[in-house]
Amino acid sequence: MTRVAILISGGGSNMLRLVQAMHDGGFATPVLVASNDLQAAGLAKAAAHGVATAAVDHRSFGRDRAAFEAQLLQPILAAKPDVLCLAGFMRVLTPDFVRQFEGRMLNIHPSLLPKYPGLHTHQRALDAGDAQAGCSVHEVTAELDAGPILGQAVVPVLPGDTAETLAARVLIQEHLLYPQVLRRFVAGDRTPLMLEGSA
Ligand code: GRF
Repeated sequence: MTRVAILISGGGSNMLRLVQAMHDGGFATPVLVASNDLQAAGLAKAAAHGVATAAVDHRSFGRDRAAFEAQLLQPILAAKPDVLCLAGFMRVLTPDFVRQFEGRMLNIHPSLLPKYPGLHTHQRALDAGDAQAGCSVHEVTAELDAGPILGQAVVPVLPGDTAETLAARVLIQEHLLYPQVLRRFVAGDRTPLMLEGSA
């Protein structure tokens, strides 16, 4: 059975959908949920679903990303994952870390990549006057938010939208898209999945 580890930084709503999809669908097994924040609310959600957890506070390593990652890698490698999913994980990973999982590491990003890599994606879409927004699941490569697209979900931008209302609409689609993309990825299907979200 394919073993999946998930990295989170906060609430872990995407992680939770992935864990529930694996438990319900039986297409893979979640072997670890790890975070860079010991207070991440998603850690308790993972534990409540019987998934092992680990946390390493990145702040105690200052600017030494490599030292933080070396610490974080210990529980990850011990869990022997076949696939690594970033889900609301807010740290930029070094190329050395990525290289260890190249070709089997996914991330969900709240924009229609290649538009708006990085942060504040919804505000940037509003500022640009975009008629549509959405989210992307992509393979993680050394370049930030730039790997092959495995799936996207599109939602309309509505009059009066704020970054918050748009984020809420996109998050609904994230929760639908990521589990479906992970299931296909585990089955060896890398054809991009395109979803059309409602208003
Ligand atoms: C989501 O919008 C995700 O796209 C972004 O972080 C937000 C929260 O994710 N990376 P989660 O609820 O912690 O999964």
